[in-house]
Amino acid sequence: MQNILDKAFNTDMAARYDSSRAHMQPLKDALHWQMQALFASLPEDAHLLCVGAGTGEELLYLARAFPGRHFTLVDPAAAMLARCQQKAHQQGIAQRCTFFSGYLHDMQDTTPFDAATSILVSHFILPLNERRAYYRQIARRLKPGAILVNADLSWDRQAASFADICQHWVALHQQAGMSTDPSYLNDQLSLASPSQMQSLIKAAGFSTVTPFFQAMLVHGWYSIRAD
Ligand SMILES: C[S@@+](CC[C@H](N)C(=O)[O-])C[C@H]1O[C@@H](n2cnc3c(N)ncnc32)[C@H](O)[C@@H]1O
Repeated sequence: MQNILDKAFNTDMAARYDSSRAHMQPLKDALHWQMQALFASLPEDAHLLCVGAGTGEELLYLARAFPGRHFTLVDPAAAMLARCQQKAHQQGIAQRCTFFSGYLHDMQDTTPFDAATSILVSHFILPLNERRAYYRQIARRLKPGAILVNADLSWDRQAASFADICQHWVALHQQAGMSTDPSYLNDQLSLASPSQMQSLIKAAGFSTVTPFFQAMLVHGWYSIRAD
């Protein structure tokens, strides 16, 4: 897994990740905007855990929206996290951030977090039992009642609509100049259906899992950590 990540999210990708995904900005804007509302009632000085923080897209949005909050950013791809750290310094928010380069299960225990994000991460975790373990790790780090917001590529692969939506998804990237090979949806990612995702997150230690977002293949849920 680490090798795949180092290859997929290497220094070259970290440098061009933001610009190469610029066509996804309307999707990200809608997602981040709703996430801001979902996190609005947290304490002013809440501490958020961002797993798979990448180059820091959700960090920058949330840090701007909530100037009193603190963030712990976790990512096993060192180059992606280095870029995130660089941007945090440039934006003057680094003093509110803690960076951990590695997997969440390797991070030392901390005070439980008030909330967590996992944006466009878990579809890279191929066996579903490992994906459940990933969400269990997040649940373990949260206070009871804390909120997790996650978004992932998700679709029912058995549905008649699957081939069609994949074509539209690939076209969306190709129109933006990316040479996307449609086979990556099968070979490099693991698309679970929305109902599988909902059950999997619930089984990981969340009392409610609520769908709030969809843009083509991307689905988003917010979940409340069980007591
Ligand atoms: C598509 S990027 C998304 C980055 C960011 N969340 C965003 O929305 O722009 C996926 C990120 O998840 C990280 N990742 C993949 N598997 C992970 C895992 N098991 N735990 C934590 N991060 C992981 C990758 O290294 C990469 O930086």
